[in-house]
Amino acid sequence: MNLYALSCLRVKEQNLQMCADSMYFDLFTLQGWVRSVRSQKKNVFLHVNDGSSLQSLQIVGFFPSLNLRLLTFGSAVEVTGVLKKSPHPKQPVELEAEQIHVVGKCNPVDFPFKIKERHSLEYIRQFPHLRCRTNVFSSLLRVRSQATTAIHSYFKDNGFVQIHTPVITSNDCEGAGELFRVEPSGPAFVDDTNFFSVPAFLTVSGQLHLEVMSGSFSRVYTFGPTFRAENSQTRRHLAEFFMVEAEISFTQSLEDLTKVMEDMFRSATEHVLAHCAEDVDLFHKRVTPGHRMFKVLNVKLLSLRVTYSEAIDILNRSSENFWGCDLMTEHEKYVVKHCGNLPVFVTEYPYDLKPFYARDNQDHPKHTVAAVDLLVPGVGELCGGSLREERLDLLQDRLQDAGLADTYSWYLDLRRFGSVPHGGFGLGFERYLQCILGVDNIKDVIPFPRFSHSCLL
Ligand code: 4AD
Repeated sequence: MNLYALSCLRVKEQNLQMCADSMYFDLFTLQGWVRSVRSQKKNVFLHVNDGSSLQSLQIVGFFPSLNLRLLTFGSAVEVTGVLKKSPHPKQPVELEAEQIHVVGKCNPVDFPFKIKERHSLEYIRQFPHLRCRTNVFSSLLRVRSQATTAIHSYFKDNGFVQIHTPVITSNDCEGAGELFRVEPSGPAFVDDTNFFSVPAFLTVSGQLHLEVMSGSFSRVYTFGPTFRAENSQTRRHLAEFFMVEAEISFTQSLEDLTKVMEDMFRSATEHVLAHCAEDVDLFHKRVTPGHRMFKVLNVKLLSLRVTYSEAIDILNRSSENFWGCDLMTEHEKYVVKHCGNLPVFVTEYPYDLKPFYARDNQDHPKHTVAAVDLLVPGVGELCGGSLREERLDLLQDRLQDAGLADTYSWYLDLRRFGSVPHGGFGLGFERYLQCILGVDNIKDVIPFPRFSHSCLL
């Protein structure tokens, strides 16, 4: 049994009002890492954490044959004893230790984290191989794991089929040219780098592969790593990030799609709050000053929508001059602030700003496409989606104009054989974690961040 299981048991017992001493007479073994040590008279008091929850278990013991200098912050131990009701109200049980074994020593001089010190996220980021030993980063990883479960549960509960889209691909879905090329290496390939016979890249998005599948399964999703060779060192860009993408067939309106985005966001956030409240709370207590965290309890209010043209008006510029320009981070922040620091969906973007697959709003006075971005406080763009151009003639013209008709002949085929109105979106998973936890820098919400000039470990 680990500490998480133990805390569930305690809660259950409290609910049933069965918290009697007699429940705790079995021997219990805890394997974990020392978080604090104190000796008083003959007894040693330790707090040991096994990573399953934020809770540490207090251990009380008398260990005459043990060299106490081995029991340092960070050392790995295995302790066996009897669980007893604790005299302290904050920790219902403690372990009266009968045996303790120091499994792995931890030299306190060289260990970068110090007992009882609150290290900043920037500081612990310097130690990618050790930072999971801190409370704050282990909390983050538990939240990340629960959020992953939450997202999969949402899709399973709503009739989506999960598709494993490829990591290696020959297409540049977004057309932004931010691709990492894949080539073989090693002695066998010295004279032959043409492994795939076509240029191959790490995927920037699984969207086009999902669109293939949406021709057979009406609701599909994928959740995996995506790669962008963006030479930017910002607090919201990574070279490798995880994206949640969905594609829905028979979708008639952008509003239908927006509702799914909203529903997924709300459902995942509620799940995380219900399963990781303590870990989330730890982050909320230390939100980076100046970072405008989205108040997660406000998820029910996630319903603001403005069109791109209205966003331009909000930016208080002459729509004549500025209309057609992309929204930069500062613009996104301004629009979100204007909307009461709540998430806001911006819809109907100019045709020229979005990739070839976005559906043309031919009947609009200004040339726009049926695309939507979700902007959130502190982060900016969290999610991007659109209705896809399902009309063969329009898509063909657009691809021809871009000189891509041959490359995407297979994509045109999808419109030739049983094409339906459809749409989809992609949510940046790390930005989602930044948003719900109020973390300023994206490098602090992924186990091993990759960005330009950095690929540690
Ligand atoms: O807006 P993007 O580029 O959309 C697509 O790739 C679509 N093909 C998705 C789809 O419709 N299936 O990226 C989607 C989201 C962004 O809103 C952002 O949250 C995140 O992915 N994102 C990044 N996150 C971290 N680092 C980067 N370099 C990112 N680029 C995009």
